[in-house]
Amino acid sequence: GIETSCDETAAAVVRDGFDVLSSIVASQEDIHRQYGGVVPELASRAHIERITPIIKRALAEAGADLAAIELIGVSNTPGLVGALLVGVSAAKALAVALDKPVVGVNHVLAHAYGAIMWARGQEAKISALGAQDCRRQLQPPTVRNEAAVRFPAVALVVSGGHTSLYRVADETTFDLLGGTMDDAAGEAFDKVAAILGLEYPGGPSIEKAAEKGSPTAIKFPRTYLGRDSLDFSFSGVKTAVLYLCKGRNAQKKGRNITTHSVGDIAASFQEAVVDVLVRKTIQAARRTGARTVLIGGGVAANKRLRARLAEECAEERMPLILPPPAMCTDNAVMVAGLATALARVGRVSDRYLDAVPTWR
Ligand code: KG4
Ligand code: ZN
Repeated sequence: GIETSCDETAAAVVRDGFDVLSSIVASQEDIHRQYGGVVPELASRAHIERITPIIKRALAEAGADLAAIELIGVSNTPGLVGALLVGVSAAKALAVALDKPVVGVNHVLAHAYGAIMWARGQEAKISALGAQDCRRQLQPPTVRNEAAVRFPAVALVVSGGHTSLYRVADETTFDLLGGTMDDAAGEAFDKVAAILGLEYPGGPSIEKAAEKGSPTAIKFPRTYLGRDSLDFSFSGVKTAVLYLCKGRNAQKKGRNITTHSVGDIAASFQEAVVDVLVRKTIQAARRTGARTVLIGGGVAANKRLRARLAEECAEERMPLILPPPAMCTDNAVMVAGLATALARVGRVSDRYLDAVPTWR
């Protein structure tokens, strides 16, 4: 699996579609931090420098050589076009050199697939070990439910670029139920962090700052877009934070005028976003008769979101798959997994596979 859609250069070696032999993720956070966001051209250049050593390292850590590779999966959409091109070119070069198939995968769907794949991996380990306490031993404490995925499922993908709900009919069939009309959830975290003067990337900074604040200190707006909508909008809550901090004639620069602490603002903002994500996910699950809830994307690493989803799903008696944070943020394991699943149903790409920045 190869992943270069945004600011992580990643490669992974996976066996049988779920058995992770290696996973290397090189973050570019240090490069982009000084600009407060991802600079596309710098991202492409960093991918070019890193892609070959990262692939070599993934192979070395897996104890595999190139001859053992049967299939190459790569994120080819959506993302930054120059960034995607690096991964797609590397994947196609390998495919030609090894005479093996290449499978282009959708990065957002790969996030949803990550949960299915992780659950499969857990199931396989559990059945191999057999004993009851292995289950407890294998699952991190945040995972409250069973590992098995039953279809249809509902998947919430919350990342820097996307906030989407899917009905998942089987491993490779994802139907979009709703998406964001403006800012993605992660984007809102990043922008609010910038307003509060917290470090990029904003999600982890807000989560940390929120530990020192109260989620009920400030009542930020929750946008539901009507009772039946499964779409999202986070620009309202972001603007509410901006006005609170900088006044209505908000100047991006300059000191914050609010008397609220950064902790209270962070915790109250996080709670507003989590409320909407959780409520719509449960709504989607009820409406589609889902038998499992899946979650993926960088924001799915957020502890408050994980805890609240676990609570609400337990109340609904709805099994929830919460993959570990490293499986939620960008990685190449999920790409290898979805590529394998697609290849099994004959959906391999040809050598004209291209990078497609926008996907509908
Ligand atoms: O999935 P991802 O790694 O890359 C994209 O596909 O976009 O998601 C990155 C996003 C960023 O906006 C980042 O701030 C957010 O996920 N994020 C978090 C957390 N960790 C990463 N948001 C909230 N809480 C976190 N712990
Ligand atoms: Zn992502």
